[in-house]
Amino acid sequence: MKTRIIGKDLKVSAVGLGCMGMSHAYGSQSTPDEAKRLIETAIEKGCTFFDTAEVYGEPDCPHHNEEMLGEILRPYRDQIVLATKFGVRFDLSAPTLNKPIIPDSRPENIRKSVEGSLKRLQTDHIDLYYQHRQDPDIPVEEVAGVMADLIKEGKITHWGLSEVDEDIIRRANAVCPVTAIQNRYHMMYRNYEALFPVLEELHIGFVAFSPLANGLLSGAYNAGSTFNENGDHRKTMPQFQVDSYEKNRELFSLIQRYADDKNATPAQIALAWLICKKPYIVPIPGTRKLSRLTENLGSADIMLTAQEISEIDKALDDMEMSDVFGGAKLVKR
Ligand SMILES: NC(=O)c1ccc[n+]([C@@H]2O[C@H](COP(=O)([O-])OP(=O)(O)OC[C@H]3O[C@@H](n4cnc5c(N)ncnc54)[C@H](OP(=O)(O)O)[C@@H]3O)[C@@H](O)[C@H]2O)c1
Repeated sequence: MKTRIIGKDLKVSAVGLGCMGMSHAYGSQSTPDEAKRLIETAIEKGCTFFDTAEVYGEPDCPHHNEEMLGEILRPYRDQIVLATKFGVRFDLSAPTLNKPIIPDSRPENIRKSVEGSLKRLQTDHIDLYYQHRQDPDIPVEEVAGVMADLIKEGKITHWGLSEVDEDIIRRANAVCPVTAIQNRYHMMYRNYEALFPVLEELHIGFVAFSPLANGLLSGAYNAGSTFNENGDHRKTMPQFQVDSYEKNRELFSLIQRYADDKNATPAQIALAWLICKKPYIVPIPGTRKLSRLTENLGSADIMLTAQEISEIDKALDDMEMSDVFGGAKLVKR
């Protein structure tokens, strides 16, 4: 597996593993045995970058993902980079399947979160600690100050920000250097490409979350696909509605054309497009299935030239597509 450096010195595999779906949002949680097999296989294949968050769970077990990962990753702790997140909780009173997010980055809450994550992850330090969402009541400078203290105390070694714009990145980085942003980024959601210049100027990595558009870009789903009514958020996502498949036909053909040409799968092309675009982009696709893990990690070996990337970009610029999920609603504390 190829590696990349994000920020000034954080070495990670070119493809990471997003672990959220093992505990949250995709209909069924992985059993500890399934997750162990998947994560150990990922490590065997050279994946060293594991992404979780304190809120990846369901109401009956809100920290399911960190707890499960802590147990599984303990024997491998010094071989891997462990990333987790603080600063939000779900509004469980909401009737919707996809619960709104309540931000809370009060310093005392961050302190509570970091201690909880360290305990659940069975470690004495977090390698990359992200603020999950901005808190409109707490200036990012104050959050960055807490991060600087946590770094001094050795509880975290690097920090980052999720779903942020240039202003927040600059203000945060001025107080405590930021290693990576983690924003939504895939072929149907390219809004954050505008951040490339600032990321390059400040030497900040871009961890691309939901890089397969929640699985759609793999081509494995069609108008007949059904999703678990009770827990699979794709049920309500615009890109998985019956009429979206027709609207995205041109996109699927473009991806398939490159897949045929490169002897790759559509998911691998969608991921390679991110990896080959910039040396500081690291996608973190999520899966609960071994075969898909192998497929997704294999994207690190698919080469798209600068010219091919630019041809794909041009085609995407002019393409009609369905709407795509843009994240849960943020509500006030
Ligand atoms: N910072 C944030 O706010 C934020 C938000 C969302 C996600 N994330 C992080 O980003 C990670 C990835 O995002 P995501 O899980 O939302 O979206 P994603 O990686 O784009 O897609 C995951 C979905 O696609 C399916 N899938 C994965 N590989 C596939 C393949 N090769 N073929 C067919 N289907 C495939 C998975 O199903 P199976 O499990 O059934 O394979 C899962 O339902 C998460 O795990 C999480 O760590 C962060």
